Amino acid sequence: MAVIALKCPAIEVAVVDISVSRIAAWNSDHLPIYEPGLDDVVKSCRGKNLFFSTDVEKHVAEADIIFVSVNTPTKTRGLGAGKAADLTYWESAARMIADVSKSDKIVVEKSTVPVKTAEAIEKILTHNSKGVKYQILSNPEFLAEGTAIEDLFAPDRVLIGGRETPDGQRAIKALKDVYAHWVPEERILCTNLWSAELSKLAANAFLAQRISSVNAMSALCEATGADVAQVSHAVGKDTRIGHKFLNASVGFGGSCFQKDILNLVYICECNGLPEVANYWKQVIKVNDYQKTRFVNRIVSSMFNTVSGKKIAVFGFAFKKDTGDTRETPAIDVCKGLLGDKAHLSIYDPQVTEEQIQRDLSMDKFDWDHPVHLQPMSPSSVKSVSVVWDAYEAAKGAHGLCILTEWDEFKNLDYKKIFDNMPKPAFLFDGRNVVDPQKLREIGFIVYSIGKPLDSWLKDMPAMA
Ligand code: UDX
Repeated sequence: MAVIALKCPAIEVAVVDISVSRIAAWNSDHLPIYEPGLDDVVKSCRGKNLFFSTDVEKHVAEADIIFVSVNTPTKTRGLGAGKAADLTYWESAARMIADVSKSDKIVVEKSTVPVKTAEAIEKILTHNSKGVKYQILSNPEFLAEGTAIEDLFAPDRVLIGGRETPDGQRAIKALKDVYAHWVPEERILCTNLWSAELSKLAANAFLAQRISSVNAMSALCEATGADVAQVSHAVGKDTRIGHKFLNASVGFGGSCFQKDILNLVYICECNGLPEVANYWKQVIKVNDYQKTRFVNRIVSSMFNTVSGKKIAVFGFAFKKDTGDTRETPAIDVCKGLLGDKAHLSIYDPQVTEEQIQRDLSMDKFDWDHPVHLQPMSPSSVKSVSVVWDAYEAAKGAHGLCILTEWDEFKNLDYKKIFDNMPKPAFLFDGRNVVDPQKLREIGFIVYSIGKPLDSWLKDMPAMA
């Protein structure tokens, strides 16, 4: 919304939320999320044509176009628990819009939603309409965190789905005109509603599938002596495949991939397509396998136990350049190590201790439910300390693992780190950020995902 305000000075953008503290943060000098470049965009439009407010009803009543970006968490109870999207927040947003609207509206689905959600929303709006006309559009967002502003400035495509009626086409045109302020026309794709809704789930499923494919290869590379970086370079040179998004890792995280695939799986099952559902389910299974494999590798290399040992964790965010920890592989890896009674010392340049403690105390899928619905004040996990310095985290640690590819981890003084660790000193690189050869020369026993193994690791094969 801030980028729309920046690129379209004649359009007034009001961002509304029922959370008073969140809106206060958006109106302050410390924005509630860390995203490179976002501060500048917000500060240049805020108070001019960009406003943050808790007066939801007033702004909804006044708006011509309403973007709905409420959360659509994975259901934790009832029908479809663990897979289906929970549309409670969407439904109440639609009811509120119907309640307060006195003029015709275009309602845009910005949240990722199950296919055919627009139909349900349309029903709620029209059955409660009081004479107001609504057009529903699907306009899924493809930005990635950490590069959100550059992605929004120069998107690969903008997708707008709407009804194939004259009114539907007029609504599509109205939204297209907004993006056309800065996005070349050939990059604005217009489709029917269901194609737009499904394309978002499909795009995320395809992206995640690439990572699970390369991660599956990484296990085979370790078993055979191939190097996954060389394999993905060779594979990616095929222009039909392409080189992007082929980095082996400890696993993908983030708020979208797992959730959207689970949702896709559920939709396939509901439509009587179990084979298709199983195909996509496998992408998640390989991701879980990769995280488990990483933990097993750590434990088996360190004489089959990490009980009572200090392990330093470098990086907790799900990727670099964000403070976001939703579905980060670090949660599962840390929980796995804690399960074997390790003591963890965690350092991430952007994630707070409170966040880490909350993540390690929370149940799966709870992160996407509003805070007041989450279990009350999670007690801190005793065997976890969070520090603000990588050297401090590593001091006295038996092993260290890199779980986020922050640039600063490439250039640490690993000799200094090694000197302050008991021997043998282990380094487990879940993101392939360090040069294993250089670290072996310092004296570390190094494990890098998908790279040829040290003789030490060969002698201690990871447990199944
Ligand atoms: C993703 C999609 O890219 C974006 O289009 C969509 O709108 C939202 O979901 P995001 O979750 O912000 O964006 O990050 P992304 O860069 O896609 O990374 C997701 C996860 O995959 C991260 O944990 C990342 O570290 C991991 N990843 C990515 C890999 O493990 N290997 C890769 O080669 C690329």
